[in-house]
Amino acid sequence: MAKKKSMQKKVTKKTVSKKTVKKQAKKIVKLSGKVEEPIILQPVRGMRDILPGEQPYWQQVRKVLENSAIEYGFSRIDTPVVEYENLFTRPIGEGSDVIDKELYSFKSRSRDNVALRPEFTTSIARAYIQHGMNILPKPVKLFSMGRAYRYEKPQEGNYREFRQGNFEIFGEDDPILDAQIIQMSASILKNLGIKNVQFHVNSIGTVESRKEYFKLLRSYFNSKKHKLSSRYRDLIKTNPMRIFDSKDDKCMQVCAGAPQAIDHLDKESREHFKNLLEYLDELDLPYTINPTLVRGLDYYTRTVFEIYSSDEDGKKHALGGGGRYDQLTETLGSEAVPAIGLGLGMDRLVLEMKRLKAKKYQMPRPKVFLAQLGNLAKKKSLKTFAEIEKAGILVAESFGRGSLKAQLRYASKLGVDVTLIIGQKEALEGTIIVKNMITGTQETIIKDKVIPEIKKCLKSSVKVSNK
Ligand code: HAM
Repeated sequence: MAKKKSMQKKVTKKTVSKKTVKKQAKKIVKLSGKVEEPIILQPVRGMRDILPGEQPYWQQVRKVLENSAIEYGFSRIDTPVVEYENLFTRPIGEGSDVIDKELYSFKSRSRDNVALRPEFTTSIARAYIQHGMNILPKPVKLFSMGRAYRYEKPQEGNYREFRQGNFEIFGEDDPILDAQIIQMSASILKNLGIKNVQFHVNSIGTVESRKEYFKLLRSYFNSKKHKLSSRYRDLIKTNPMRIFDSKDDKCMQVCAGAPQAIDHLDKESREHFKNLLEYLDELDLPYTINPTLVRGLDYYTRTVFEIYSSDEDGKKHALGGGGRYDQLTETLGSEAVPAIGLGLGMDRLVLEMKRLKAKKYQMPRPKVFLAQLGNLAKKKSLKTFAEIEKAGILVAESFGRGSLKAQLRYASKLGVDVTLIIGQKEALEGTIIVKNMITGTQETIIKDKVIPEIKKCLKSSVKVSNK
């Protein structure tokens, strides 16, 4: 409790000025008669608002991901943000950072152990089993996009609430699908204008083939135990391969001399990896075999891959990653279904697009502006606006703006082709002034004729702009 209080104090101090807090607190005491904690007017640490100015980048990312999903034959699936906690803990693995340090888990009011999803793959695999998708023609390709939560140290590109685009393929173990999903990620990045990315690939074999390899790895790490911090020493017993994920210099030096999974693959996994590399060569897609790439989630088997970009300082950022998880559905208690998937970090894609000044989404431009003056005109224009919108014409207004001059200034800023004006006189007579902004001509028409008149003006403006 004391710890909680001191943490709240820290957040308050950091985020809102003392003066504001005192002022807010005083106000709250006055209103309710008891002291309440002031409301902190910002999101919790590691979470953020995405404001209108940034939306064109997000819209572009969403559009490119959705288009790729259609082109590559993926169907959309949406799963809940909250799931039972053990759906994540067992397949992702206790002892992994995602589960031990980063999972947002809590007891629901009905005392169920639940968690905010830290990723999508396990939830999608759960939905695949639950909805009997194994009877669908194979492969079953599922696409999802949304928020995920990890209690990470917040910094640029690392958030506690972040967004991912996910592509999962169930029902095939052919390495051609591994190659296709890597190729698809390359195509997505290209379509977003993100260049100079690096693809790292590796194979980590099957759970069965890793047993012998883990023995070797344990004996190697045990011989270098004194060079590892206690956190990594503990992993020697539970999952020695996870030590490769370390960012600690000393640990990385130890890892450099460790036996590598790729040299200890079973025959089928070796063949699978060889075929994948041949497909990638065929695609002319430059890649690096990275024998220390293991990924931080336990459910992977055979292929693993990661996509990096490098900033001006040469610092690497993972834009996405994925791999094969042929035994995940089995871990969840169903029959084993071979599967491969990809997760792209949308927040990091947006950051990268901004850094590279890549093309943003162009919001559709309204073609018509509706101006009004006086109370009666205002009332009439609300219905006229709805009628124009119903006719499928993109229309703008500024009901809140007072003077006609201010409204017209706004109309020309928007660059519309037609401005409609309803004044007091027009409102009483049931007419509208239609001003063609391209030719500068204007005429007064009966209100009921407004849609065909707009269409006529828009047609002529297309002709003028095509000349
Ligand atoms: P992951 O590597 O943990 O894989 O996450 C995929 C991507 O999500 C990362 O490369 C990164 O771009 C982004 N990401 C992860 N954590 C954060 C964070 N805290 N803030 C911002 N971005 C973040 C998975 O999640 C797997 N489920 C991918 C997959 C799909 N494997 C098979 N299918």
